[in-house]
Amino acid sequence: MFPLNHWYVACTPDEFADKPLGRTICGERIVFYRDGQGAVVALEDFCPHRGAPLSLGSVRDGQLVCGYHGLVMGCNGHTVAMPGQRVERFAGIRRYPVQERHGFVWVWPGDAAQANVAAIPDFVWSDNPEWAYGGGLYNIGCDYRLMVDNLMDLTHETYVHATSIGQPEIDETPCETLREGDQVITRRFMNGIGAPPFWQMAMRMNGLDPSAKVDRWQVCRFTPPSHVMIDVGVALAGHGGFDAPAQVKASATVVDFITPENETSIWYFWGMARHFKPHDASLTAQIRDGQGRIFAEDREMLERQQSNLLHWPRRRLMTLNIDAGGAHARRILEKLVAAEQAGQVDQTEGRPAAA
Ligand code: FES
Ligand SMILES: [Fe+2]
Repeated sequence: MFPLNHWYVACTPDEFADKPLGRTICGERIVFYRDGQGAVVALEDFCPHRGAPLSLGSVRDGQLVCGYHGLVMGCNGHTVAMPGQRVERFAGIRRYPVQERHGFVWVWPGDAAQANVAAIPDFVWSDNPEWAYGGGLYNIGCDYRLMVDNLMDLTHETYVHATSIGQPEIDETPCETLREGDQVITRRFMNGIGAPPFWQMAMRMNGLDPSAKVDRWQVCRFTPPSHVMIDVGVALAGHGGFDAPAQVKASATVVDFITPENETSIWYFWGMARHFKPHDASLTAQIRDGQGRIFAEDREMLERQQSNLLHWPRRRLMTLNIDAGGAHARRILEKLVAAEQAGQVDQTEGRPAAA
């Protein structure tokens, strides 16, 4: 269950720098490569001859060559040539709208006629010298909505990430959930507390006393189809928290692009864009390593949760106040999928019209 008429992060350019990349996105088997001009191409990963995955082939002069019997596929999805064969009547394959933006490749797995490049979101941290970005990719065996739930309810940090970003005050401070159109915001502000280990490190790197009392914030924002940006940080207590001047705080945005592979598996592009010490490459690497360890802790929980849900498909789950962000996101996704299936499409936005 996922809306198809949206841009999803599919991969990063380094993943197909040497050879074509085959990747399933929202159930669509797609091959990514560059054409002769260097532009990214996304085609069905299916050779019209005998159905071999084209991603097992190679790129020659900007065209895909099937690795089985040498069929040459054009970037428009029509066969160009095949050794010893006439190809005029070969069936075509599907071409997907694809764009490179913010260091990622974005693909539109739905109706190509509705793809609108302007609908790819902008981010303040992208191509901005005041920000640094580092991140990675995990393939996790869970429904993408379980990951949205996870990121829209950071109460779990106290338990799953007890040694890095978790602290009891998260549990003790109620969170607030808001809707802004098709976006959902869950936020929590914790004032006058000690910083947990990750933020002590960030304070130290940013020239702040790591033992000082801080005001800490977490503002999670879900945007359809499945992006969750989380503004996080600490400021020396009493200086305005989130709004405190830069010299008394360490702040960042946790970047989460959650792309369904299929109903029970995701491509999870995680990262952190930080707004302090942007030119410190070793700090970027250190944060990426730490964040990778933190998200690996979520991975086991989510995969085992998915396994349980498949094992007990009729069990009813509870929705408590801490689950409100994920619950709102699910309702928005259901509305978008229903509108897509009903064919109600706002052509200007390239997404289903609001109900
Ligand atoms: S399956 Fe691709 S050329 Fe035969
Ligand atoms: Fe987590």
